[in-house]
Amino acid sequence: MIPIIMSGGTGSRLWPLSRQLNPKQFLPLADPSMSMLQSTIARLSGLNTDLPRLICNEEHRFLAAEQLRKLGMEGAQILLEPAGRNTAPAVALAALQACEGGNDPVLLILAADHLVEDQDAFHHSINSALPYAEAGKLVNFGVVPTHPETGYGYIQKGASDGETGGYKVQRFVEKPDIETAKDYISSGDFFWNSGMFMFRASRYLEELGKFRPDILEACRSAVAQCEQDMHFTRVDKAAFMACPSDSIDYAVMERTTDAIMVPLDAGWSDIGSWSALWDVSDKDSSGNVLKGDVISHDSRNNYVHADHRLVATVGLEDLVIVETKDAVLVAHRSQAQEVKRIVDQLKLDG
Ligand code: GDD
Ligand code: MG
Repeated sequence: MIPIIMSGGTGSRLWPLSRQLNPKQFLPLADPSMSMLQSTIARLSGLNTDLPRLICNEEHRFLAAEQLRKLGMEGAQILLEPAGRNTAPAVALAALQACEGGNDPVLLILAADHLVEDQDAFHHSINSALPYAEAGKLVNFGVVPTHPETGYGYIQKGASDGETGGYKVQRFVEKPDIETAKDYISSGDFFWNSGMFMFRASRYLEELGKFRPDILEACRSAVAQCEQDMHFTRVDKAAFMACPSDSIDYAVMERTTDAIMVPLDAGWSDIGSWSALWDVSDKDSSGNVLKGDVISHDSRNNYVHADHRLVATVGLEDLVIVETKDAVLVAHRSQAQEVKRIVDQLKLDG
């Protein structure tokens, strides 16, 4: 089994700490001693896997290599994309590369922006999924949902497989609207898609070829003309730039009829936004998460991060305040998802 770590996202909802040149997966957000990417790799320790492979943007190659080196994994291969085309092409590149030389390994696809509290339970789910993947199924890992989150995919569980703990996937719906998400939650029949997958490389490519042959063909030519540069594999720029953008969830998981859901009960969370980070962080007796040089008076349930200056709060509630050298974010915690609109605006302003 080869772990493939997708680390090409932009993390725009965690602006202004997460930046184009240093996105969230490379930051020590949940654990001060390790970046999200490093924690993703560290939690594989004890599982029987090959060396992980990373797939990220060309721009982040040294950052990624340095973080791998610090974990003693300098031999790990890093596949470089000239630009992000979302996760369906990223996984296709990794699968095509894994099939070289007539191989067909099982791939464990991991996102680099998750927190998992219970490593043993995580390993248990991975080990339960392996026989399904070996038998040609596409496995996703389902988390019992706690609220109608619209930023996740939803998996409706079908018949139980009985013995090994998997369920047939009845339906997969990526990022439903809030009313649909509420219906799913009240039905008690749906799980969140954790965004981790397991399958044989060839099975993913077959399914992608059925539903998005355009993506598969673009990725095939990008890999056919790739260049090896030490541990970096650089795919062909022109071929990959011509690849359409889509996520693995929309391109394959919503459409395949051959998916199995293995439950994951391991204290999973996606650190997608400042409110998600507040949720999972240790809080003081007033419910505040205070990072850096912060003084808080009569303030409750805030997330305050001071990078360069002293930040003081008086009489504030439910806010996110993130101070960096060149930008300060002040947002309501309930609207933390909207921070990406600021990043979109900044891009437009050039
Ligand atoms: N290499 C590469 N290239 N990686 C990418 C790219 C890309 O173009 N785009 C995103 N990634 C990486 C991100 O860094 C992250 O680790 C992972 O792929 C998932 O991408 P996100 O952009 O964070 O996806 P999401 O959170 O909106 O949705 C996915 O995860 C949810 C759970 O966290 C989906 O799988 C949902 O169904 C799922 O519920
Ligand atoms: Mg995510």
